Amino acid sequence: MDVAIIGCGYVGLVTGTCLAAIGHTVKGVEKDPRKLKSLQDGHCPIFEPGLQELLNENYASGQIQFTGNVKDAVRDAEVVFLCVGTPPKPDGTVDMSYLEGAGKEVCDALAELKSEYLVTIIVKSTVPAGTNRKLYNFLREQTKAYVQVVSNPEFLKEGTAVQDCLNPDRIVVGGESPEAFRMMRRLYDPLIKREENFLTMNWESAELTKYAANSMLAARISFMNEMTILCEHYGADIEDLRKGMGSDTRIGPAFLRAGCGYGGSCFPKDVAAMEHISKAAGYTNLFVDAIQTVNSNQKRRFAEKIVQKLGRPIEGATIAVWGLAFKADTDDIRESAAIDVIRYLLDKGAIVRAHDYKGMEHMKALFKDEVEWCGDPVTAAAGADAVAITTDWPQYTTLPFRKIAATMNTPLIFDGRNCLHRDVMRENGFQYYPMGRPPVENKLRLKQKV
Ligand SMILES: NC(=O)c1ccc[n+]([C@@H]2O[C@H](COP(=O)([O-])OP(=O)(O)OC[C@H]3O[C@@H](n4cnc5c(N)ncnc54)[C@H](O)[C@@H]3O)[C@@H](O)[C@H]2O)c1
Repeated sequence: MDVAIIGCGYVGLVTGTCLAAIGHTVKGVEKDPRKLKSLQDGHCPIFEPGLQELLNENYASGQIQFTGNVKDAVRDAEVVFLCVGTPPKPDGTVDMSYLEGAGKEVCDALAELKSEYLVTIIVKSTVPAGTNRKLYNFLREQTKAYVQVVSNPEFLKEGTAVQDCLNPDRIVVGGESPEAFRMMRRLYDPLIKREENFLTMNWESAELTKYAANSMLAARISFMNEMTILCEHYGADIEDLRKGMGSDTRIGPAFLRAGCGYGGSCFPKDVAAMEHISKAAGYTNLFVDAIQTVNSNQKRRFAEKIVQKLGRPIEGATIAVWGLAFKADTDDIRESAAIDVIRYLLDKGAIVRAHDYKGMEHMKALFKDEVEWCGDPVTAAAGADAVAITTDWPQYTTLPFRKIAATMNTPLIFDGRNCLHRDVMRENGFQYYPMGRPPVENKLRLKQKV
C-alpha cells in the first residue's frame, strides 16, 4: 500500500519504518529542516534501539523516502498518517495547532491534486475526544476529495518502540464505516497475530482509550510512589510489596516500579489533558488530580531527601546527577525527573555535574553552563559530595563502585530509580538511600576538602 506519514518524530518515524519493513511503500514528511536533512542522509535524528538498522535496510531499498512536501507524499497515498505532536499548553490543555496545521496541509494537497480515489486519513497523534469527528467534518467541508478518517492511537514505548510497533499488544481503530475498518485491517495484516487484538470502535472511544490507558499506567506508578512514604516510615521494602502485589494475577506486575516520579512526553501531558477533558465535560476528575500531585511531590521528595541526608549544607555542595533521559534507552528528556531535581539543587546553591548516555545534548540546551557536563559517570562522581540517580541506565549498575567510593568526597548515593544493589553499596562503604527501601547506612567517611 502507498502510505504517507506526516511528522517523522518518535511515532511517525518508527511507524513509517516498520510499515516499510512489512512491505508498504512509505513517504515520510518532516517539516523540521534539520531532521529532514538527517533523514534524507539516511540518519535517524532520534535514538531508538534497532531503528537505525531497520531504517538503513528500508531506505537503501527505497521502501521509505523522505520529503518536506506534503503534496509529493499524498499524491499516490491510499492512507495518510498524521503523527505530529500534540504537546501541552502551559495550562495543561492540548495544543492542537500542529494537528490542525497538518490536517489543513493534507486537505489543500488533496484539493490541488483533484484526487478521485478514496484516501484514508489516520490520526495517530494522541488527541482529545471529538477531534477525529471535527477533522472529518472539516475535510468534508473543505475538499471534494473522497476521504475517510480513522483514529488509530499509538501505544509504543520509547526504548522498545520498534518491537512494540512490530509486535503490538493490540491495534485500536476508531471509525465510522466498515470500509475504514477493512482498510485498516489490510494495512496492518502482517502484524495481527490474533483477530481479537484488532479492536474496532467509534472515534471517541478510540480517542479516550489512549488517555485512559496512559492515565491508568501513570496511576499505578503514582500509587507505588505514594507507598514508598509508608515503606520508609514503617521500615518496609517497596520491592517486596511490588513482588507481593504484582504476582496477584488480578493486579499483574507491570508499571509497579517506584521511583523519583514519572516523566516523558506522554504520561505527564496525557494525564494533564485528561484533567482538562474532564473539566470540559463539566466535572473535576479527582483521580487524575491525585496522580499528578503525587508525581510532582515525589520528584520534590527525592530532591529534599538529598538536602536532608547530605550531612553538610547543600549550598556549595557538589552533586553528581546520573541520568538525564526520562528513562533508559532513550535520548528523550521531556518532563524528565532530572530536570526538576537539577533545578531544585541549583536553586539551593549546589554545584551540579551531570551525565547521561544519550540525553546529554538535549539537556545542555536547557541548562547550558549552569551545569558541569561529564562524559562518564565515574568522572562526574569524582570529588562529589553525593551521587543522585534519576535514570535507570543498566550501565550504572556495573560501575567500579570501589573506585567511585574512593574518589568521591563522600561515598553517598541517592538512588531515585532503585537500580543499584544494596549489597554492592554496603560492601563498598556507601551511604545509600533508595526510594521506599531501607537505606544502607555505613558510617560516612567524610574527607576534608582542600
Ligand atoms: N513519543 C511517544 O512515546 C508517543 C507514544 C504514543 C503516542 N504518542 C503521540 O504521538 C504524537 C507524536 O508524538 P512524537 O513523540 O512522535 O512527537 P515528536 O515531536 O517527536 O514528532 C512530531 C514531528 O512532527 C513534525 N511536524 C509537525 N508538524 C508537521 C507538519 N505539518 N508537517 C510535517 N511534519 C510536521 C515535527 O517537526 C516533529 O518532528 C503525539 O500526539 C504523542 O502524544 C507519542
